[in-house]
Amino acid sequence: MALLIRNAEIVNVGSQVHADIFAENEIITRIGKNLEAPPGAEIVDATGKLVFPGFIDPHVHIYLPFMATFAKDTHETASIAALIGGTTTYIEMCCPNRNDNALEGYQLWKSKADGKSACDYAFHMSVTKFVKETEAQLRQIVSDGTASFKIFLAYKNFFGIDDGEMYQALELAKRLGVIVTAHCENAELVARLQQKLLAEGKTGPEWHEPSRPESVEADGTGRFATFVENTQATGYVVHLSCEKALDAALNAKSRGVKLHVESVLPHFLLDKSYAERRGVEGMKHVMSPPLRAKHNQTVLWNALALGSIDTVGTDHCPFDTEQKLLGEDSFVNIPNGIPGIEDRVNLLYTQGVKRGRLELDRFVDSASTRAAKLFGLFPRKGTIAVGSDADLVVYDTNYRGVVSAKSQHVNNDYNGFEGMKIEGRPAVVTVRGKIQVRDGKFVGEHGRGKMLKREPTHF
Ligand code: URP
Ligand code: ZN
Ligand code: ZN
Repeated sequence: MALLIRNAEIVNVGSQVHADIFAENEIITRIGKNLEAPPGAEIVDATGKLVFPGFIDPHVHIYLPFMATFAKDTHETASIAALIGGTTTYIEMCCPNRNDNALEGYQLWKSKADGKSACDYAFHMSVTKFVKETEAQLRQIVSDGTASFKIFLAYKNFFGIDDGEMYQALELAKRLGVIVTAHCENAELVARLQQKLLAEGKTGPEWHEPSRPESVEADGTGRFATFVENTQATGYVVHLSCEKALDAALNAKSRGVKLHVESVLPHFLLDKSYAERRGVEGMKHVMSPPLRAKHNQTVLWNALALGSIDTVGTDHCPFDTEQKLLGEDSFVNIPNGIPGIEDRVNLLYTQGVKRGRLELDRFVDSASTRAAKLFGLFPRKGTIAVGSDADLVVYDTNYRGVVSAKSQHVNNDYNGFEGMKIEGRPAVVTVRGKIQVRDGKFVGEHGRGKMLKREPTHF
């Protein structure tokens, strides 16, 4: 099926032009003025709307056994929510734990997505131990098109790895040309501080942040950077939340360390007072690294505007109210995570572009193009160009709405951003030339999504 988008104001990184876009066989084949469409082509009039390359969420959890339960979404629900919010590709963390076989875990995660996702997807492969067979397994996984790793410096004895394993993972990544993404917190300090607070009878969600203070994240970030430096690998700090951790990352970058930084939607918009709310309302806002003191938000927005924070992800990780209550008696048992896959683009546009914190160019870069470049998807994804996949977001900047659990498509009974206003939303979203969303409704083909095979790009 052919697709013609007429009268588009095309926003790419570095350019904004008025033209028509024609796509055939899933690919953009022409961009120009007054293009003709063959009979039967789908025609969309984008007059008065912006047209963006499909947005990419570089950090989501969909299938996730974690903290004695499972994250709530399936690829069916998460992909529909993603598309309605303008995200046409997501990269899921494949997270077998230390006791699992990595290769079996990889096959399991793939099987959960296969034929289920309505948008395209890829994986970051977690390295949660480094034993005799790990190198051969990771080589096989990279040859299968999963060309990025994930390591956790937190979550001791579950996802977490020690320094020796981190060195081996980075050293192998350097040889394979694979970027390593990392959750950066000092696991030992988290464990000690948790014990200390619980011994003092401090059990509520408001103690989650003090158990993982900014200095603990800064230590993890600095240590990861030092290991990246000494292995000459390429690193990517996920969900960086605060000024101290940013300083550690920028310090490393200024020494020439190949380090990239992601921050996630909750840390731009929510502060620790949300997790200090009483009872389950606080628990709903527990994630790691935790929501921080408010002044950090300005720091993150400024760093994002300058490009020293490269990307904005979500760390989408839905647990419902009942699951959050697993931590009723102790904050250490609250399943960590806040969902956001559906709201990232609209809230970033509203709070970033509309509030004058972010140029349109950086908005597109941080929510799409930069992730495509870092993770080996560019120029197939992350740009509107002849030869690229026809993943397009026709964006209605006149739309006004409010984020609410009542209208969301994510499989959860609350929304961490409840009540926030949005000033814009996708009018039409296409995946490889097929219209999947119109005006907040999924109208497309279930299971259309493909796993994206990626080549290593960081030699
Ligand atoms: O709280 C979080 N971030 N939950 C998901 C697991 C992780 O650390 O990314
Ligand atoms: Zn994490
Ligand atoms: Zn995560």
